[in-house]
Amino acid sequence: MTTTAASDAFRYARSMTAMAPARLRGVLARAASPGVISFAIGLPAEDLLPARELAEAQARLLPARPAALQYAMPHPRLKQQVVELMAARGVACSAAQVFLTSGSQQGMDLAARLFVDPGAGVVLEETVYEGMQLAVQRLGPRLLTVPIDLATGMEVEAVAAVFERLPRPALLYAIPAGHNPLGVSLGLAKRQRLLELARAFAVPVVEDDAYGFLAYDEAPPPPLRACEERWVLYLGSFSKILAPSLRAGWMVVPEELMPRLSALKHGADLDTPSLGHHLVSEYLESGDFPRHLARVRAEYRRRRDAMLECLATSLPPEVRWTRPASGMYVWVELPPACDAAALLETAIETERVAFIPGEAFAVAGNRHADHCLRLCFTACTTEQIAEGIQRLARAVARALASRPPRAIL
Ligand SMILES: Cc1ncc(COP(=O)(O)O)c(C=O)c1O
Repeated sequence: MTTTAASDAFRYARSMTAMAPARLRGVLARAASPGVISFAIGLPAEDLLPARELAEAQARLLPARPAALQYAMPHPRLKQQVVELMAARGVACSAAQVFLTSGSQQGMDLAARLFVDPGAGVVLEETVYEGMQLAVQRLGPRLLTVPIDLATGMEVEAVAAVFERLPRPALLYAIPAGHNPLGVSLGLAKRQRLLELARAFAVPVVEDDAYGFLAYDEAPPPPLRACEERWVLYLGSFSKILAPSLRAGWMVVPEELMPRLSALKHGADLDTPSLGHHLVSEYLESGDFPRHLARVRAEYRRRRDAMLECLATSLPPEVRWTRPASGMYVWVELPPACDAAALLETAIETERVAFIPGEAFAVAGNRHADHCLRLCFTACTTEQIAEGIQRLARAVARALASRPPRAIL
């Protein structure tokens, strides 16, 4: 019997053709080189992670409750604690509406798989967190992009125009507080209009509130979920306010979605890394969290202000940037002829400073953010921020000086 030699190339699923390898990975590796001041990755400050308090919680946890090592139903006490946290954000919900996830990234994946068929419309801002783009891309959706204003957030009248076209989209994704990467927060009037549209057109809004607890200025508006129980699927996370490696996140959703979400999650990971969830719960029980959050917010506010001040004193007048009221990022717009990806090469090589070029967040490979860059202000000390922004300013000055001269007529 003869056998034909099979090709030794992998035959990827058709759905993988839509999945470009994650664009941020290469940058991540280079930004971590020794001596580089990195504003690239959205990391919580390592010096503020509550390591001692978590170690104490860990030491109490396992001797008292070895069952924390077992397969288990989602942690009921943590659900109740999430209800209390949500109340602090102005959201009334019940434990029956809380769905625990391994990070809010899993919430994005589950929400996408719950609603998005191949060809279905998914409404995204034209520049947005690439994790959500990855969560929807492999489902083969039709991406419907809307512009975003750097001062007031998503252009909701553009959303109205998209919703009015048939067929109705499967979902809309929004980051109303401390947008990644733009740093902008959605204004109150726009929030109300967005909810009005979601109700009128019956489109679920996936509200990513990863940065909602990190608010630095007076009276931030409440999350969308505070005003709409049915059409908002809220995603929360302990990653930025406690520690990302715990992989502890949650959704607040209408109860009727629970059985389907459970089935989807079961197929994906059977059980959340629930040791992390037990640890979060034990830590919250200690009562330390409000003090920790206040400390993190005060320090991040100081770092944000330091970065804004350094940008103002170091960068030339033709460069613009956002002033974030929440979150971890400042978005910088260079003059349109500048290429931020090329700038990153020289910034790392010659100045040892890193950031993420705007193109990494542009939906569907669009080129509109090629002259922009994202800076994370939380991971570096104020001294590193001062030094890093000076380095960046030198790299920018060189890039501007080497721009081709404008043609005269
Ligand atoms: C907007 C946004 N949502 C979600 C996440 C992921 O959070 P988690 O660690 O909870 O999965 C990030 C991470 O940077 C983010 O920027």
